Amino acid sequence: MKVTISTLREAKSQNRKFSVVSCYDYTSAKLVASAGVDVLLAGDSAAQFMLGFENTLSVTMDFMIAITAAVRRSSEDLLLVADMPYEGCKNSRGETVKNAQRFVKEAGADIVKIEMVEADFDTIKAVADAGIRVMPHLGIRPQTGKYKAEGTTAEIAAEIIESADKAYKIGAEMLLLEGTAREVAKIITQKLPIPIISCGSGPDCDGQVLVLPDILNLKDGPVPKFSKKFADIGKAVIDGIVLYDSQVKQGIFPDDAHCYHMKTGEYDKLQKLTI
Ligand code: KIV
Repeated sequence: MKVTISTLREAKSQNRKFSVVSCYDYTSAKLVASAGVDVLLAGDSAAQFMLGFENTLSVTMDFMIAITAAVRRSSEDLLLVADMPYEGCKNSRGETVKNAQRFVKEAGADIVKIEMVEADFDTIKAVADAGIRVMPHLGIRPQTGKYKAEGTTAEIAAEIIESADKAYKIGAEMLLLEGTAREVAKIITQKLPIPIISCGSGPDCDGQVLVLPDILNLKDGPVPKFSKKFADIGKAVIDGIVLYDSQVKQGIFPDDAHCYHMKTGEYDKLQKLTI
């Protein structure tokens, strides 16, 4: 059954949590979809995990459209969140709206997440007014280059709560809170009827998101405080490739079972042709 924003609103009203995974390609999204999660996010963290950049600022609209469409092809049924890159919203409000439309038309996204860095409330409203479902991203916004927890003082907490409220009133259909103090995320989740996704903002939100490379420990090194390694696939991947490499070098792979052969009699014919 197709997961929609209404499905998630219903889950919220019944106090049922949902899970979201940020992933970047068809093959891994297909695995994620078969594991029973509710929402796929084609995140701009692909800049770091796929392309090896220092931050998320370098990914282009065209790249994000391509990976969002790839993730869509993995499943028609899951809710698909597109992630507006910095490039997509740095110029004008009109261009941001057009780029949000591209995610829906060209990549099959159900909703577009926009970090509130270059995008202001008028931009969020313009996207919503254009009939595109929009998910403002508040709290830590990686496009600012700052990764410090947000909402840890009363003043900033009040600002985030006010921003969340305002975003809802102008048409946001979901919200993502990253690295925001648990207390603040709880207040917002209880106050607003729309689904609130936590990325490191505590268990009181309606849904949780993590990036697939962290869940699987694909990339060596520490994960953020709020993340957790649920499997050690990185090691299994290296073990598999070590075995492949050594079998190639020892002449064990490929053996005849992995070869195509000429049709019966054709080898003899070839011998005559090439004499
Ligand atoms: O880019 C991304 O993967 C994200 C999530 C971590 C929220 O924005």
